[in-house]
Amino acid sequence: MTTSERTFFAASPDHSSLPRPVRRPRRLRRCPAIRGLVRETVLPPEQLVLPLFLIEGTGAREPIEAMPGCARLSVDLAVDECARAIDLGVSAFDLFPALDPTLKDPAATAAVDPDNLVCRALRALREAHADAYLITDVALDPYSSMGHDGLVAPDGEILNDDTVDVLAAMSVLHAEAGADMVAPSDMMDGRVAAIRAALDAAGHTHTAILSYTAKYASSFYGPFREALDSAPADAPNVPGDKKTYQMDPANAREALVEAALDEQEGADILMVKPGLPYLDVIARLRAATNLPIAAYHVSGEYAMIKAAARLGWLDERACLTESLLAIARAGADVIFTYAALDYARWYREGR
Ligand code: PBG
Repeated sequence: MTTSERTFFAASPDHSSLPRPVRRPRRLRRCPAIRGLVRETVLPPEQLVLPLFLIEGTGAREPIEAMPGCARLSVDLAVDECARAIDLGVSAFDLFPALDPTLKDPAATAAVDPDNLVCRALRALREAHADAYLITDVALDPYSSMGHDGLVAPDGEILNDDTVDVLAAMSVLHAEAGADMVAPSDMMDGRVAAIRAALDAAGHTHTAILSYTAKYASSFYGPFREALDSAPADAPNVPGDKKTYQMDPANAREALVEAALDEQEGADILMVKPGLPYLDVIARLRAATNLPIAAYHVSGEYAMIKAAARLGWLDERACLTESLLAIARAGADVIFTYAALDYARWYREGR
């Protein structure tokens, strides 16, 4: 013992007279078998959704720099990717089109073209994989030269009700092309009710709605906007961010207001997005609703782990697994993640 250690122990109270603990939580951590028996959260690959970025062409694969392991795929390669995923136990897919810039315009016209990239992909995937569960993103940003989820008025206002009409029409097109579920990610008010009414009127009563209920104006979407080239346009009278419709990261109670509205309007599943920075919101929604809850482990969350792993600073497998498990523990039933296939492989291999 050094002198300072000796002084420390001399100054410490004598614990020998204290009773030994009877409750020893460590008993249940002694080996993998007992840890497995008492594990509170399990996350099988069936609860994951794999987002897919689509491009025109055949045999086309464009890696996305800020999202290592992810690529934009032409429809034929997306069909192959789904086959691999289904094999691994991941059967749900969320489709995002990366449109050629020449097809984007201020009115997001291509969004309601029944032969657009998403509709063609839906038909091909439906035909190739009858059992796949096909989800589509419903928002205008991939189609808008303004890079916003809604229509932009000349004064820069993001128009709510006009946008909702387009989203409802889009949803019906997606259902007709084979979508099982539409996922409005735009944060316009009243869109869930309008989409439900439009789907029902067109006879698509089986088409479900997963609403992005609490979608935050987050900086963690950066790599995704690179993937779709969908960042808000740098132009006069075009807002440079999405803060007038996506939620303020400072707010949690407001998520409960959104959840009550979406539930009333007929949403089947409520989504919180991003994931890890908003675990408290997931937990609060879990307590407030009996609907299933989804969470989106977004592009930036994925990219952070990939980048740190490349530098040798984090263990990719361990950190991705822990992240997804934490999101499930907070209360999410469904998780959207770019790591779905890796996770499914790891899950199979066993922890
Ligand atoms: C847009 C949309 C976004 C994401 C999903 N849908 C980006 C945005 O709101 O700007 C982000 C997903 C991710 O970052 O992984 N409708």
